Amino acid sequence: MSSSHRLIKALTRQPVDSTPVWFMRQAGRYLPEYRQLRQNLGSFLAMCKNPEIACQITLQPLQRFDLDAAIIFSDILVIPDAMNLGLGFKENEGPFFAHPIRDKAAIDNLPIPDPEDDLGYVMKAIQLMRQSQSAVPLIGFCGSPWTVATYMVEGKSSRNFACIKSMLYNEPTWLHSLLAKISLASCHYLHAQINHGAQVVMIFDTWGGVLANREFSEFSLRYMQNIVSYLKSQVLTCAVPIILFTKHGGQWLELLAATGCDGLGIDWTVDISQARERVGHRVALQGNLDPAVLYASPERIQTEVKKVLAGYGHGTGHVFNLGHGIHPEISPEKVQVMIETVRQYSLVYHQKEKIYAS
Ligand code: CP3
Repeated sequence: MSSSHRLIKALTRQPVDSTPVWFMRQAGRYLPEYRQLRQNLGSFLAMCKNPEIACQITLQPLQRFDLDAAIIFSDILVIPDAMNLGLGFKENEGPFFAHPIRDKAAIDNLPIPDPEDDLGYVMKAIQLMRQSQSAVPLIGFCGSPWTVATYMVEGKSSRNFACIKSMLYNEPTWLHSLLAKISLASCHYLHAQINHGAQVVMIFDTWGGVLANREFSEFSLRYMQNIVSYLKSQVLTCAVPIILFTKHGGQWLELLAATGCDGLGIDWTVDISQARERVGHRVALQGNLDPAVLYASPERIQTEVKKVLAGYGHGTGHVFNLGHGIHPEISPEKVQVMIETVRQYSLVYHQKEKIYAS
């Protein structure tokens, strides 16, 4: 099934019948059925750690919408949780760590989690998904080492990244040892996810865009490169498409494409036709509707979706998505409009003669 599915074909830039579509945070709080489960079960982290529940939530958006991918219900912060930093989520405030990383000793003491054991609940959820009725490819994921490190060092979500940027400029060798550890843990983790059935993997670099230009290469790109090189060097994992997504990383698309990944996520600040000119001969592009467009009327949503499709233009190599995760207040009806518009208006970009001409 998987290699013939249009998501995999688009990511490997083979012809498709229509543009595949899925979206970040497709299982989550905008869905009443998610909110209901969350109310009954109480804690987000407990839901992630229960494989049956995680599988059920992963399936929720697929039961409602005609999507081309499932993304496993989990979080990028399960790696530091497995490193014993004491992860919790505060209502309306987001994640926090009881033991943030502030000195060299804390970095040296961090264990590298065994994915089969310490993150076995994610592996089990992936297995359950592959045994389910879902006919679409399953995406596994992790955070970029830099993005995960921001939470580990700040201890919570941050506005100005004071603690981690102090470490970057005052004690860069500490930060490099931390990033190397997270990167090694992420290699093992994604390898295990693929081993258990993930058919695509994605690395979320949500905070790469807050780095100064030169620092991006040294502190974020380099460690994503390590993960890509590792996965591409392993027999089991080398054929699995890898998507990198640096939010606000539009200026670094060439550098990101040169890592050897298969697809690049782009946010809404990027012009998709220019992005295709810059890197479309090497990688597929995923994106890039502004998630805030979903606050608009159905007619306006249609117009904006059509602009993204036309911006990419004819031929394969485009995976329709939002430029970042869906906002929790969005109504599922608006999501339906977005998906139907992609289905209806993308066909013309994949007619045979157009594919051969492109
Ligand atoms: O995309 C999906 O549907 C798969 C599941 C997924 C979640 N988090 C579930 C989640 C994925 C891929 C993530 C990635 C993630 N987690 C990122 C990178 C992508 C991005 O959105 O920027 C980051 C930075 C995190 C860390 C995180 N997790 C934060 C900052 C928060 C709080 C903010 C928020 O959106 O609530 C979370 C919680 C979280 N992760 C929720 C979900 C469904 C909300 C949980 C709830 O309150 O029920």
